[in-house]
Amino acid sequence: MSEPILELRNATIQFGGLVAVDNVSFEIQKGELFGLIGPNGAGKTTCFNMVTGVYKPTGGDIIFKGQRINGIPPFKVAKLGIARTFQNIRLFGALSVLENVVIGGFLRNRTNIFSSLGYMPGAIKETERLRENAMALLEVMDLADEAHGRSSDLPYGKQRRLEIARAMATQPDLLLLDEPAAGMNPQESEDLMNTVRKLRDDFGKTVLLIEHDMKFVMNLCERMVVLDHGEEIARGVPAEIRNHPEVIKAYLGEAC
Ligand SMILES: Nc1ncnc2c1ncn2[C@@H]1O[C@H](COP(=O)(O)OP(=O)(O)OP(=O)(O)O)[C@@H](O)[C@H]1O
Ligand SMILES: [Mg+2]
Repeated sequence: MSEPILELRNATIQFGGLVAVDNVSFEIQKGELFGLIGPNGAGKTTCFNMVTGVYKPTGGDIIFKGQRINGIPPFKVAKLGIARTFQNIRLFGALSVLENVVIGGFLRNRTNIFSSLGYMPGAIKETERLRENAMALLEVMDLADEAHGRSSDLPYGKQRRLEIARAMATQPDLLLLDEPAAGMNPQESEDLMNTVRKLRDDFGKTVLLIEHDMKFVMNLCERMVVLDHGEEIARGVPAEIRNHPEVIKAYLGEAC
């Protein structure tokens, strides 16, 4: 079997008296569409924050492509090949749709953003290349028609797609999507499902996603782990998770 692209080994994080993620272990193979689900407050976003270097685990390890990345700062994690979107959309609202994606590309660019702003000849060429790449990503994400509008004018569902385009611009191997279908209508969420599948099939991305929309996650993800109160309560393929008594209990508890 090939080496996993991402591995959490007993990953734990404690905030004061609260163990938000408690000894969580799982591994994701390259090219998988993997789900991380669980009720509100289960620790899902906190896992993303540990993987992306926002928080340093208080116990255990995060291994990416064979390298231990605990405590590596977010910009370095991004350079290693992990990109994410946020549960609460974080775009540069005053910038255009295209500019938001170009910014993602600077991370992978030889020229840094400041020399580009100084209009060095090489930098202008590089910036032109980044704009072309960004435009191509907007095509993939079905946002090309909106490229020159302000990102804050996009409807909510399209802002979520734009966040994915920006993450893709960093040329990641692993994409972390935090509730990508949140706030979408059924048609938008089905379209997004097809797009995310395309990111794997045509662009070779590995995808780890958090989602409350069960139809979305069950149709898209090949395997998943379920957290509740920071601990794993189940793992498996969609058919195993759908009828898992612990999972049903955890979600019913949330509805009460
Ligand atoms: N920086 C922090 N300081 C203290 N507690 C935190 C911090 N970040 C998260 N928590 C707590 O950790 C727990 C897990 O939060 P997390 O955001 O990971 O949940 P989640 O599974 O993403 O939930 P949701 O589905 O509502 O987004 C919650 O109790 C939350 O309040
Ligand atoms: Mg969350």
